[in-house]
Amino acid sequence: MTIPAGAYGERLVLPSLLSADFGRLAEEIAVVTDAGARMLHMDVMDGHFVPNITIGMPVIAALSPVVHAAGALVDVHLMIAEPDRYLKDFVSAGADGLSVHIETCPHIHRTLCQIKELGLAAGLVLNPGTDVSLVREALKFADYVLVMSVNPGFGGQSFIPEVLEKVKAIRDLLPEGAAVEIDGGIDASTIESAAEAGANWFVAGSAVYSGGDAAGEYRRLAGLAGAFVRAR
Ligand code: DX5
Ligand code: ZN
Repeated sequence: MTIPAGAYGERLVLPSLLSADFGRLAEEIAVVTDAGARMLHMDVMDGHFVPNITIGMPVIAALSPVVHAAGALVDVHLMIAEPDRYLKDFVSAGADGLSVHIETCPHIHRTLCQIKELGLAAGLVLNPGTDVSLVREALKFADYVLVMSVNPGFGGQSFIPEVLEKVKAIRDLLPEGAAVEIDGGIDASTIESAAEAGANWFVAGSAVYSGGDAAGEYRRLAGLAGAFVRAR
């Protein structure tokens, strides 16, 4: 599938499964989709580009139907070297959006276009230390932009406030209605400043799943961000 055009301009909180209970992932998805989540964030790490290894295609393939059956979408964040080798596999696994890091893609135009040709929404990701000037041209070819507000690799890290300037700069470069996603350290104390800077898709892992009340935390963050909450 892909991400419908209307979603890019909405304020959405995307629960990240990285902090969910890996023994009960389908249930952990249901808790947040029942609470109104419309997009789930899944982190793929290779122990090479980032110093951690998480889930891959088989787990995403098992979970995508669960997310889709609940009427929600699957946003896959690739933190892997040579992502071009695996794009088709993530289509088969059921991703709707597939984002790749500028730091892993020497031919970013080709990679983003391939993702779109495969029928998915193409996301462009920047690490905290990567300057906007390095993606200024590539922005034109992405469907959404993901600004990392921690160094990728682990959940539960502290938000890096300096990235807010970059969020503002990217927002200013994009057309009206584009999506700017932010990922890392988003919780009740940081989500409003991220929204104020211009982010409108907020990934939240530990804030949603680590406190024991994922539905309540999802709703609290969605409320703070002014996010759309689906009526049940
Ligand atoms: C980190 C991942 C994030 C992670 C965020 O590299 O990309 O999606 O789940 O976790 P929190 O919200 O706990 O910072
Ligand atoms: Zn992520």
